[in-house]
Amino acid sequence: MMNLGKTFLLLLLLGCGFEQVYSDDSDDGAMTYVPLPDTTSPGGKCMDGTQAGYYIRDGSDPTLFVIHLKGGGACISKDDCDGRVNTTLGSSRDWEDTKNGAALQRQLNPDCSENPVFCDATAVHVPYCTSDTHQGTVDEPTELSYGYYFDGHLNFRAIIEMLIVESGLGEADNVLLTGGSAGSVGALFNVDWLSDRLQNAAVKASVYAGWYFPSALDDDLPEPHNPSDYPHFAAGENGNQLYDIVESGEEFPDVWGMIDSLSPDCLEAFGDDKWACSSAHFAYKYIKRNLAPHDPADEDEVDTVKRYYQMWGNATRRSLQVVVDDDVLFPKPHPDGVFSASCRTHGTPSNVVIDGFSHEQLVRDWFFQEQQFEDHYKLIEECTPLEGEEDYVIPCNTNPVCAYEPQPSKKDTFKTCAEALFQGGCLKSFVSSSTCLRCARDIQDELARAKCTLDTVSRVCKYVEANGIPSNNNDRATRLTEDLDGGYFDDEMDTQLIDRTENSPPILNHASSLLGGFNLSAMQLRGHGRVIEDKEDYGVVMVM
Ligand SMILES: *[C@@H]1O[C@H](CO)[C@@H](O)[C@H](O)[C@H]1NC(C)=O
Ligand SMILES: *[C@@H]1O[C@H](CO)[C@@H](O)[C@H](O)[C@H]1NC(C)=O
Ligand SMILES: *[C@@H]1O[C@H](CO)[C@@H](O)[C@H](O)[C@H]1NC(C)=O
Repeated sequence: MMNLGKTFLLLLLLGCGFEQVYSDDSDDGAMTYVPLPDTTSPGGKCMDGTQAGYYIRDGSDPTLFVIHLKGGGACISKDDCDGRVNTTLGSSRDWEDTKNGAALQRQLNPDCSENPVFCDATAVHVPYCTSDTHQGTVDEPTELSYGYYFDGHLNFRAIIEMLIVESGLGEADNVLLTGGSAGSVGALFNVDWLSDRLQNAAVKASVYAGWYFPSALDDDLPEPHNPSDYPHFAAGENGNQLYDIVESGEEFPDVWGMIDSLSPDCLEAFGDDKWACSSAHFAYKYIKRNLAPHDPADEDEVDTVKRYYQMWGNATRRSLQVVVDDDVLFPKPHPDGVFSASCRTHGTPSNVVIDGFSHEQLVRDWFFQEQQFEDHYKLIEECTPLEGEEDYVIPCNTNPVCAYEPQPSKKDTFKTCAEALFQGGCLKSFVSSSTCLRCARDIQDELARAKCTLDTVSRVCKYVEANGIPSNNNDRATRLTEDLDGGYFDDEMDTQLIDRTENSPPILNHASSLLGGFNLSAMQLRGHGRVIEDKEDYGVVMVM
């Protein structure tokens, strides 16, 4: 039996942790951590065997729930999984007792002026410690799973059961399942189970930055394959990791045991090509519940990279026709939506509009079928080539954050800043983060000259507290920077940092999908943006 493979590989690269970001740092919206009981079975574990759990804030409207699945990449190779198991993405050991809902996701914000429709809902945030896009069913570690648990789907089910018993989820009328990036894959592939479980509720999913992946264009690879990955494309060939495996007749290991959690209808339809059902494009028509306007990746450029973006953008737009055309096998209460801006960030910032509409506005209208904006539930932004650059179609959304504009990479900022901290004697292995910050205060002028921001400094200090500093490298700052980029840092922080740091390039929206296509070995531990960056100093960092 051929297993998933494709997507996962790719998911790995999946823009780690797109989360919506807000500037409001107040404590409003505190959500309290609830671990799953030790007796939970099946499932209940993080990769390392610590208990999984969720954060919750009871709402004043018992009929309305918002359940948010956190993103943060994924792993299928041993090296990648080893690298994640002892981080907050693989273990609950260092999880905080509370989380600020408003900072996690727009619909978890209890402030009704900012989140008018869902502010009264019971808000649930499911952290991500299984590296399996919330789809795995491995609740007994095996050799194939490198001795780790990958039971994200089972955890999700256990959390839902607990919410039914403890928080009245069973009495809800409306439930929004949402998530970004890897969390959006989780939402997409768990919404039918949830809806079956909550027979009396309208259950809908709203996924952000999660169309993994489109189908390949006709002149690329045959159905049911996803587009070529970058190494093939750059070499003028067609192929991707899964395609190559399929062609070679090799079996691809189902590391997460997730084939069993895919749609049985889809699995049946694809027969030997079961792995296709892990791809949003091919699985879409088998999904029974509604999907809100979401914002999958879009396009960007730079020579080969530009053409690759363009190809991917074309493939994405074409693929999204399945949503536009309502190409579904099971009747839904009403059509799905799609909101696909031409924007280079991974996930569309909330202030990006298409035809004057923001996705939040449309998701809200769509979720409750208010139908005020019904004609705009499916917005896919098309771009016309720039004059003099007819070969390229670059991100054309008018929001400056979406535009292509090469900028100094944030990696460099980290590097110079880490260097300055090191020179200033603030970085010693496992020094506490507060000591490091105090030290930083004493060398403020040097840090300012190195263009450190408070965020950067605090990130470096926290990293060093948790990981020490690399000792086996002549250039510690570089190593440190690479580690920081390596994806083992808290991705919420990454995202917030990225969005807050001025003059730093946002992650390529398109890149997350695009990156999905990259060859794992080239990308692992490096942050997928790096490949592009290496080529063109494109300034794409911290995606992973
Ligand atoms: C994770 O941490 C545990 C306990 O500190 C350690 O035994 C294990 O080797 C670590 N795993 C990896 C892959 O680093
Ligand atoms: C993408 O689509 C545009 C418009 O149809 C076309 O001109 C362009 O050649 C396509 N590019 C690729 C790489 O597929
Ligand atoms: C990934 O790329 C490397 C270097 O280009 C190559 O040696 C390796 O075979 C590729 N792996 C796969 C699975 O395509």
